[in-house]
Amino acid sequence: MTLVSIADIFDRKVHLGEEIKVQGWVKSRRDYKGFSFIDMYDGSCLNFLQIIVRRELVQNYQTEILSITTGFSLEVTGVLSPSIGKDQKFELLSTDVKIIGKIKNPESYPISIKKHSVEYLREVAHLRPRTNIIGSVSRIRSDLIYFIHSFLRKEGYFLVSTPIITTVDTEKSSKMFFVSSIDLDELLAKGSEEIDFDKDFFGIKTFLTVSGQLNLEAYACSLRKVYSFGPTFRAEPSTTMKHLAEFWMLEVEASFLNLSELIEFSEKMLKYLFRKIADYRKQDLLFLSKKTGTNILKRLDQFIQSDVIQVEYYDVIKILNKKRFNVKSLEKDISSEQERYLTERYFKNSIVIKNHPKSIKPFYMKINKDQKTVASMDLLLPKLGEIVGGSQREENFSIIHQNMIEKGINVKNYEWYLDLRRYGTVPHSGFGLGFERLVSYITGMKNVRDVIPFPRTMRNARF
Ligand code: 4AD
Ligand code: MG
Repeated sequence: MTLVSIADIFDRKVHLGEEIKVQGWVKSRRDYKGFSFIDMYDGSCLNFLQIIVRRELVQNYQTEILSITTGFSLEVTGVLSPSIGKDQKFELLSTDVKIIGKIKNPESYPISIKKHSVEYLREVAHLRPRTNIIGSVSRIRSDLIYFIHSFLRKEGYFLVSTPIITTVDTEKSSKMFFVSSIDLDELLAKGSEEIDFDKDFFGIKTFLTVSGQLNLEAYACSLRKVYSFGPTFRAEPSTTMKHLAEFWMLEVEASFLNLSELIEFSEKMLKYLFRKIADYRKQDLLFLSKKTGTNILKRLDQFIQSDVIQVEYYDVIKILNKKRFNVKSLEKDISSEQERYLTERYFKNSIVIKNHPKSIKPFYMKINKDQKTVASMDLLLPKLGEIVGGSQREENFSIIHQNMIEKGINVKNYEWYLDLRRYGTVPHSGFGLGFERLVSYITGMKNVRDVIPFPRTMRNARF
């Protein structure tokens, strides 16, 4: 007897009339005369398989069939048949039904068949993957990771695993989580006033990384085209729908690449990912469109069909000032509200804002000829805002060194990074893409907490 997945059945890899075995969970059960009809899912796709149980034919568990409720796990053997019902294409005429796991107390099962809000589902994050909506999001998330790796491989990029524990602060603007093996209770009991990091595990104060970029640059200066994909950490006190304390970032870095080539590459990559996922997970995307009220395929197609509009930061400020925003200070980055105005109302398109003032961007960005701006880029999508942030890097030793001093950076900790400019320096560029923001855009789920399995946010590290 072959064990098959429900995806195999709907992909027509199983012939009608074949006797097969399926394993999965019950969505619902209905009874009619001597028959029970069980909708079963197994995670392989959104589809259910309808199991038809003629109760008198089931050898084991005959009487227990009538106790089956949502959430039971089953192993079913039967013959695959065309469905007579109008909604399904297939059904399984069962010859045997084995109950593997029961629901002890169906009335108190937190994921009953009724509709649950996404907010409620966050409270049961360990059970929410059992819902259709989180199931769809999870399949899409996994496929996107696969498509990212396959795109970059096709483009000649190598994966580099950058460290999680670090001593460098790449993005000065984000607060870092500090990592230590010191027993703080013991320290307090001893009445110590300060922490001696020399005695700590690494002999120096360490943090969880906010970005692997600086390490990635070291490899770009030898393998030429590299990327990293991993968790990054920011002690963001914000409670927006776009921020997590632990999020996954794709970082891409390449030598002999300038800002405009970098912008082009980021657009090409997004178009590839949108096209692939629209083709490969159409059913989940259509389902999510219905659930979220967003026409996802249209949204993806619009991006694929149009070109991202590039605008200079200073022109953006002029646009904002001419309209209803009064942006007096150029020392701030564009706010979320302004981002949405630009993409949804002014340009009615995705945009790249480039060449920001150097005062609002990190020390590593290449300083432009005007001495005031840097070769930066932020890619903004309508409804979402910033999804990609990157720049050409400053490859000139004296200029970056001077900039670090001006920005008050402790150069001593970055000597290794400066070596990249001392020895065979090369123009190079890279960007970071917030993976949860990408998944949120593609699934129509408005809050990034609903597209990562166990979200970590301020005051929330449960599960
Ligand atoms: O713009 P950011 O801070 O850029 C960097 O970290 C660079 N070192 C990347 C690079 O050039 N290699 O972050 C990159 C992206 C943002 O555009 C955003 O999509 C996402 O990471 N991001 C977050 N996503 C979820 N939660 C947060 N708290 C995020 N902070 C940034
Ligand atoms: Mg940014």
